Parts: sequence; structure tokens; C-alpha cells
Amino acid sequence: MTGALHVTAAGIALRRGRRTILDGVDVDVPAGRIAALTGPSGSGKTSLLTVLAALQAPDGGEVKYDGRVVTPRSRDDWAGRVQIAHQSFGLLSLLTAAENIELAAQGLPGARRPGRAALRAAAADALSRVGLAARADHLVDELSGGEQQRIALARAISTGPGLILADEPTAQLDAENRGRITDLLFERARSGATVIVATHDREITERCDLVLTLRDGVLQ
Ligand SMILES: Nc1ncnc2c1ncn2[C@@H]1O[C@H](COP(=O)(O)OP(=O)(O)OP(=O)(O)O)[C@@H](O)[C@H]1O
Ligand SMILES: [Mg+2]
Repeated sequence: MTGALHVTAAGIALRRGRRTILDGVDVDVPAGRIAALTGPSGSGKTSLLTVLAALQAPDGGEVKYDGRVVTPRSRDDWAGRVQIAHQSFGLLSLLTAAENIELAAQGLPGARRPGRAALRAAAADALSRVGLAARADHLVDELSGGEQQRIALARAISTGPGLILADEPTAQLDAENRGRITDLLFERARSGATVIVATHDREITERCDLVLTLRDGVLQ
């Protein structure tokens, strides 16, 4: 099981209490394409990414990878092939950068889980791609916000996933690193991943194959 995933979602609705957070959202991102997800703060970008990652079940509608319905219960079937870089990073602060990245492979079934040396090598490769090779053995607590943001993306690419969901991955970065991370996302799309990136960054949206814009939970 390798290669970019075709991601579709139909009629996604998400409600919290009496609030409607997503309302009838349809998404179709062909395999190997890169889509930007834009919209004002609070419009539902993070919520939609977590639904597309099958981290939470929508109240209506369904998400499919390559035509197969995926739910939080069945997402283990896709372990390692679907990765998300969270807006708030989601790193474990008392582990090192490399250890956090190695955790990305933990959901893989035993037979597909790489050995210790291979995990270490994959983490080192992912760190070098985000310009942080020298930080492998630093505790996350010792790293800056922008460094943590790049480690979250390094973790998301480290298993060679077929779907990468990145939530504002350049929000805390300087121009040089924004360019580096943007190039990395497009390079991943060229080499076998579908990428959906929530962003306000025009340098990203202008280059994407498609742009999805949310407003108050509704796709425009
Ligand atoms: N668990 C929750 N319970 C209640 N409301 C929520 C919950 N999660 C998100 N919301 C609300 O849903 C709306 C969409 O939030 P979301 O985080 O998806 O927006 P966003 O587009 O990612 O915003 P930002 O650009 O600020 O990251 C917001 O109004 C938020 O307050
Ligand atoms: Mg968000």
C-alpha cells in the first residue's frame, strides 16, 4: 500500500452544542494534488482537517480515501499513510525532536514498523528536510516555536504518507523557512503524496492545484 490517496468528502457537517462548525462541505482532492484550505480565523479549517484525517467523526457526511469510507475506528487501517501536522504542533515536550518523529511510525502494524535504526534514519532525514538536522537530540522544550512547527511537519512526512494534512505549517516562520517548508510540501506532492494545507500564506495558495475557501463553515 503506497502512493498518493484520492481524498473525497461529501456533505460534511460538524456541530458542537448548538453551533454549526461545518455545514455541507464537499471536498475532492485527486491523488497527488496539493490543495490550499483558506478562510478567516474561526471559519472551520482546523475542524475540517481533523475530519479529513478521520481524527473526529463528522455529524453528517463521510470521508473516503481512494473510494473507501474512513472513520476514526477504521483509521488504523491507514496508519502511517495519513499524517497531520497540527496547528498547535502536538509534540511531546519531554522527548527529543527525533523521538517525537519516531513516534509517527508507532501506529504501524508490527510487521510494517521499521526497526530502531531505520526509525532513527527516517527521523534524521525528515529533520534535515526541514533544516533541523542539528536539533535531533534537543528536547522539544528547548526549541523555539518555529523550530517546533518544523518538527511537527518533519514528523508528518517521516513515514512517507500518501496524504499529508498540514495546518498553517508556515505561520511561525521567517521568510527563508517559509520558502523551505513550502518547497517541501510541493516536493512531497510531486513524489507521491496528496497534500491539503490550511494556510493564509499567499506564496502557498498561488501555487496550489486548487484552493478551497471556507467561510463560517461553508465552502465558497
Ligand atoms: N471542540 C469545540 N467546541 C466548540 N467549538 C469549537 C470546537 N472546536 C472548534 N470550535 C469552533 O469552531 C469554529 C472553527 O474553529 P477552527 O479551529 O476549525 O477554525 P480555523 O479556521 O482553523 O481558525 P484559525 O484560522 O484561527 O486556526 C470556531 O468558531 C471555534 O470556536
Ligand atoms: Mg485553525
